[in-house]
Amino acid sequence: MQSLQDKIKQYEADIDATVPTSADELETYRIKYLGTKGIVKDIFGEMKNVPKEQKKDAGQLLNAFKQKAEAKFEEYKHLQHSKAVKADVQDISLPGTTLPVGTRHPLRMVENKIVSIFEKIGFSVATGPEIEDDWHNFTSLNMPENHTARDMQDTFYVQQNPDWVLRTHTSSVQARIMEQGKMPVRVICPGRVYRNETISARAHCFFHQVEGLYVDKNVSFADLKQTLYYFVKEMFGENTKVRFRPSYFPFTEPSAEMDISCTVCGGDGCSLCKHTGWVEILGCGMVHPNMLRNFDIDPEEYTGFAFGMGVERITQLLYRVNDLRLYSQNDVRFLRQFESL
Ligand code: PHE
Repeated sequence: MQSLQDKIKQYEADIDATVPTSADELETYRIKYLGTKGIVKDIFGEMKNVPKEQKKDAGQLLNAFKQKAEAKFEEYKHLQHSKAVKADVQDISLPGTTLPVGTRHPLRMVENKIVSIFEKIGFSVATGPEIEDDWHNFTSLNMPENHTARDMQDTFYVQQNPDWVLRTHTSSVQARIMEQGKMPVRVICPGRVYRNETISARAHCFFHQVEGLYVDKNVSFADLKQTLYYFVKEMFGENTKVRFRPSYFPFTEPSAEMDISCTVCGGDGCSLCKHTGWVEILGCGMVHPNMLRNFDIDPEEYTGFAFGMGVERITQLLYRVNDLRLYSQNDVRFLRQFESL
């Protein structure tokens, strides 16, 4: 009897100390004390060892213990619905769980900016296929077969059809627009282009260009220059200087390359501009009469200008990205740096 009393005392102390805080904890308690193999059942089993004359007292003791064990369970029974209750009383002042969202790729952001600058002065966007035929990528652009200028661009050919290439420049879209024969033309053509180059920090086998084309009556080189001055000011800021250097492209005559004052050193000379103070950003020129003729456009009546720039190059100048490979490695540590733009 004495040992039974001691046991019960111990259990009661344990019950007093138990404060379930969740449905799971309450269930653990229930199984421990009130379950079919629980302590209450177990201790009632000990009645058979109690001498006859003490059975009455022992019975009262055990009943009281059982009531105490059950009372505790009743007291915390509300926890069984705690999940539902919890949802009802959520702390709405807590910060929400943020979902991982992507950001725009820096090249896309810069492309969008370039496009919107030209849209403001009346250019519309045109696109074309990345797998191009020889005519649109080369021949119609005044680069007939065996023309040495084809060597300027290392071309990927499509194995199944030697007439197909991965376009080496967005000038192929120029060709497709002129082919439609609707004058005047004022388009901007963004897109991905491919060249068979060994991948390094300074060269890649694919990159992005934005091409511009304007054909109308009386379009002059002065119009070309004004358009590009406007672009540079919008893109790189009021104080950026511009210069043109004579150059060669088969589809423009005269042709030029355009430099701007270095965006890193402002023209003082640094490693980016190879200590010249100038960086090249695009090629341009007056559309070659042969090209107009290829599309049955009379060069006596219509003239036009075209220009083409590399989006990677512009992005490098704006954000000082010095390795071209970063653009396509999809490293989030790189991409996250453009999150706030
Ligand atoms: N297509 C030329 C290139 O890829 C760029 C260019 C476009 C030059 C239009 C002149 C006019 O290098």
